[in-house]
Amino acid sequence: MGIKLGMVGLGAFGRGFANLFMSHPLVDSIALCDREPERIKAFMDLDFWQAKLNHDACGTSYEDMLRTDVDAIVIITQPWLHAPQCIQALEAGKSVYSAVPIISVPDGDEILDWCSKLVDAVKRSGRHYMLGETTYYRPQAMYARKRAAEGAFGEFTYSQGEYFHDFRDLYKVRERRTNSSSGREWLEREKAYDARGCVMSPMFYPTHSVAGPICVTKTHAVKACCFGQRPFEGEDYFGDDPRRFSNTTALFQMSNGGAMRIIEHREASISREMFSIYGTQGTFEGSEAHEGGHNLWIKGHTPTPLSVDEMRDPLPPDVAKAWEGETFQSSYGGHGGSHPYLVHEFVESVAQERPPAINIWEACRYMTPGVAAHQSAQRGGELVDVVDFGDAPE
Ligand SMILES: NC(=O)c1ccc[n+]([C@@H]2O[C@H](COP(=O)([O-])OP(=O)(O)OC[C@H]3O[C@@H](n4cnc5c(N)ncnc54)[C@H](O)[C@@H]3O)[C@@H](O)[C@H]2O)c1
Repeated sequence: MGIKLGMVGLGAFGRGFANLFMSHPLVDSIALCDREPERIKAFMDLDFWQAKLNHDACGTSYEDMLRTDVDAIVIITQPWLHAPQCIQALEAGKSVYSAVPIISVPDGDEILDWCSKLVDAVKRSGRHYMLGETTYYRPQAMYARKRAAEGAFGEFTYSQGEYFHDFRDLYKVRERRTNSSSGREWLEREKAYDARGCVMSPMFYPTHSVAGPICVTKTHAVKACCFGQRPFEGEDYFGDDPRRFSNTTALFQMSNGGAMRIIEHREASISREMFSIYGTQGTFEGSEAHEGGHNLWIKGHTPTPLSVDEMRDPLPPDVAKAWEGETFQSSYGGHGGSHPYLVHEFVESVAQERPPAINIWEACRYMTPGVAAHQSAQRGGELVDVVDFGDAPE
């Protein structure tokens, strides 16, 4: 049986996802919500949307959408809004998909608090939460999880993950995200964080770098040691607070005794979201397509190069067919081709009334290491315990 979906947030990222969600064969109808009415209208006028568009439930009010009979909500609003909006959806009896991260605010304790509130809301509501972490469905992650399931790595000894994203690009992103009603409200709210002496950290958005190692090894971080570097050039972007870092590099002890090295750099000359995993029997080394894409499986000291097609799982044929054609090319290609897989996993999990792969317990393990790492960096590399919310219930 198909599902009725509601989607909130039709900005730069949400627009591409809207087409994918609408066209999924298990979606019977879709309603759209954005505080900027012209962003909804852009879809209402499209011929190929008419068959599934739930006109009555479309509008500028999220609260109104929650009162309709949609089964599930997709949230692709600005990152400081995600967690409270997800809790509202769960409390209204809807399963919910959230763009990454769980929440982005310049206060580590508040991030942990929202994680805890979300875990409680999922337990209380009996509904499901999924984090749309793109790295989870990169071909490299799909391949390494398969090898891990076969036991081909042996024991996991070490992993590394990186997210290099330069502030010169992030400037533009910030400008766009604050240029809307909800964006302008945030500029006001930010002043209260400043007044409390809170500073943003690259480690408050560690999901792209830690998700690969954690989803493959099925271990979690227990202790963090991190070093931070002050900005060299980007005073305008990072501000002049001496506690603010542009680049942070952390080492974590993992729950199996191994180690994970994580890079979150916002002042960088390269762009990369990738990971590598080392075991006693096998090793996977990942590489981005724009860097040559030399992904390797290494066993007995012999490296085997891997193509993207070899690494990637196939989508069910009817789902893949629904996304054929030009309209979908840009959304399909984004972040290692992960977007269609995220959409399929969420829609199928709602239709089958099962927890999604990146449930709230998994998602928290992609967030809490960063909070501990930032604390460690603020204390000059002191060892800090990582908060853990436990395994997803069986
Ligand atoms: N690799 C990745 O996974 C990845 C990449 C890019 C963006 N993202 C995430 O996607 C999210 C969206 O980013 P973006 O660049 O599209 O932002 P954006 O500012 O362009 O779009 C956000 C939209 O949400 C709408 N909105 C906010 N609050 C609302 C409310 N209460 N009701 C209705 N509409 C509301 C805004 O009006 C806006 O149109 C971010 O959280 C970001 O972290 C993830």
